[in-house]
Amino acid sequence: MKEELKALVEEATKAIEEKTDLKSLEELRVKYLGKKGKITAFKKNISKLPNEEKPMAGKLINETSREVEKILEKRKEIIKKELLEKKIKEEKIDVTANFDIYETGHFSVINQTMAELEEIFQNMGFDVVEGPEIDTVKNVFDDLNSPKNHPSRSLSDTFYIDEDTLLRPHTSSMQIRVMNEGKLPIKMVSAGRVFRNDEVDATHSPMFHQLECLVVDENASLANLKSTLETFIKEMFGNDMKMRYRPHHFPFTEPSLEVDVTCPSCGGKGCPACSNTGWSMELLGGGMVHPNVLENCGIDSEKYTGFAFGLGVDRIAMVKYGLDDIRLLFDNDKRFIKQF
Ligand code: PHE
Repeated sequence: MKEELKALVEEATKAIEEKTDLKSLEELRVKYLGKKGKITAFKKNISKLPNEEKPMAGKLINETSREVEKILEKRKEIIKKELLEKKIKEEKIDVTANFDIYETGHFSVINQTMAELEEIFQNMGFDVVEGPEIDTVKNVFDDLNSPKNHPSRSLSDTFYIDEDTLLRPHTSSMQIRVMNEGKLPIKMVSAGRVFRNDEVDATHSPMFHQLECLVVDENASLANLKSTLETFIKEMFGNDMKMRYRPHHFPFTEPSLEVDVTCPSCGGKGCPACSNTGWSMELLGGGMVHPNVLENCGIDSEKYTGFAFGLGVDRIAMVKYGLDDIRLLFDNDKRFIKQF
């Protein structure tokens, strides 16, 4: 019996070593140590042995069972460890991997255009200033010399928060903020969002972007304004871009003007997009700072003059990239965004 048990242990050990998963290991345990198992079978035969041999045989069988049990446990631990290692290896995240599913984003066309504009003006020696989107009626209208009955003040044109505060309908309030700081001369630009109660169409949006420019100095002139604008248009659109000035009216500039450029759709020949004029929609409004505005900010209008303009960033982007609808800029359609 001893020899048989020994052979059984050898057989079991060999089988156990070959197993690589817990399920087949459990099957082996049943095969040898289960109720109908090969080793258990020996126990059933003890009763047939002579009495004096019974204790020794029982001991031997128990020892054999324990030995096989031990080998099974050992193998079980090894398999568990291997499975864990395999799992860790498989789940490891390779941070250096370049997965195509992740796309790198980029700044929107508007932010790209705004950054480009700021750079052009910085290269011309302008400071870049930031200001709030919510401003006071005083900064937005009163100190900008807007008459109390000016249409842009009405609720149907402008979003009020209360009587004295509103979402700025233009960046010109930044002129007042910077002049009130009391440092002269001034040479600044300030870009950001503005809000108007406008119906949405191909060229209008209730939220759009402007860049305000203000120069206040002892000899600032209309000639300076024109040369600044012409330098800027060439930098932004290249030397071939033509521009034209049209007289206009703003309460805070005198004289006032508006600027158009060559129609981006037809290059100036005339087409449906420009109603056959060959010119774009107006890109900016500007003029010489009204003396009342300077005085409202405590600046001596006998000594100082200024020029200012506000340009539509969205319209600049539309001309630059040949877009026929402002809504493209805000729709967040990936097919559009990806092109920039
Ligand atoms: N604020 C004007 C507008 O929104 C533009 C402007 C700015 C005109 C500065 C003159 C001077 O249309």
